[in-house]
Amino acid sequence: MYAFVTGPLALIAFIVFFLGLGIQVFRFFRMTREKESLNVSFPKPRQKDVDALRPPEGVRKKVRLRGTVLEMEPFLAVMTTIFHLLLILTPILLLAHNLMIERAWGISPPSLAEGVTDVLTVGVMGFCIFFFLRRIFSARVRALSTAYDFLLLLIVFLPFLTGFIAYHQLFAYKTVILVHVLAGELMLICIPFTKLVHMIFFFLYRFFLPGEYSFVSGSRVWR
Ligand code: HEM
Ligand code: HEM
Repeated sequence: MYAFVTGPLALIAFIVFFLGLGIQVFRFFRMTREKESLNVSFPKPRQKDVDALRPPEGVRKKVRLRGTVLEMEPFLAVMTTIFHLLLILTPILLLAHNLMIERAWGISPPSLAEGVTDVLTVGVMGFCIFFFLRRIFSARVRALSTAYDFLLLLIVFLPFLTGFIAYHQLFAYKTVILVHVLAGELMLICIPFTKLVHMIFFFLYRFFLPGEYSFVSGSRVWR
C-alpha cells in the first residue's frame, strides 16, 4: 500500500497537477483573444501639457495605494503574503521530501534544517486557523463564505497537520505517513480544478487582462 501511494499514485498526482495547470492556461488563452489596436492616431501631446496634468508628487504618493488591499486591509495583505510564502516554500525546502527526490533521481535540492521547517509548518497551520476564524468571525467574510471555502482550507491544512504528526511520530507512524501522502496528493490534484487554481489565474489575469485588478494595461480581452 505504502509503495503504491508513494509510487504510482504520487506520479499520477504530479501529472494531474502539472497537466491540469497546463490545460487551465490553454483554456485561458482559448477564452480570450488578442486586443485589437485602435487604428486611429492622435496628435502627440506636448510634454509641457502632459506635465501640467500630472498631480503634484505629494498627492501622487497619497493616492497610489488608494483602493488597493494594502490601503484597505494592510494587516491581511501582510498575513496572506507570509502565508503563501510559507505554504509554497516549506514543502519544497523540506529535507524529508528532498531526500526522497535524491533517492529517486539522484539530485539533491536545497533543504532547510528540519527544526526550521517544523516551525514553518506550525506557522502555516497557524495561518490556516487564522483564515478559518476570519471566515467565521468577520461578518463581511462570513457573508461570502460557503462550505466549499472551508473544505478547501481543510484540504490545504491537512498535509501540514499530518506531516507535522508524522515528523513528531505522535501516532502510529506508518498509518500517519500514509494519510499524509494521500492528503498531499489530494491537495495537488485539487489545485487545477478548484478555486486553488488562482495559483495560476492570479498571474494570467493580472498580467494579460486589463480591468481585472491588473498590474499592467494587458494585451488580451475576453472573447
Ligand atoms: C505527494 C507526496 C508526498 C510525500 C511522499 C510526502 C512525504 C513526506 C515524508 C516522508 C515526510 C517526513 C515525515 C518524517 O519526518 O518522518 C513529510 C513531511 C512533511 N510534509 Fe510531505 N509528502 C508529500 C506531499 C506533501 C505536500 C503536498 C505537502 C504540503 C503542501 C507536504 C508537507 C509536509 C510537511 C510540512 C512535512 C513536515 C512537517 C514537520 O516537519 O513538522 N507534503 N512528507
Ligand atoms: C503562487 C501563487 C499564488 C498567489 C499569487 C495567490 C494569491 C492569493 C490571493 C490574492 C488570495 C486572496 C487573499 C486572501 O484571502 O488571502 C489568496 C487566498 C488563498 N490562497 Fe492563494 N495564491 C497562490 C497560491 C496558492 C496555493 C498554491 C495555495 C494552496 C494550495 C493557495 C491557497 C490559498 C487559500 C487557502 C486562500 C484563502 C484563504 C481564506 O480562506 O481566506 N494559494 N491567494
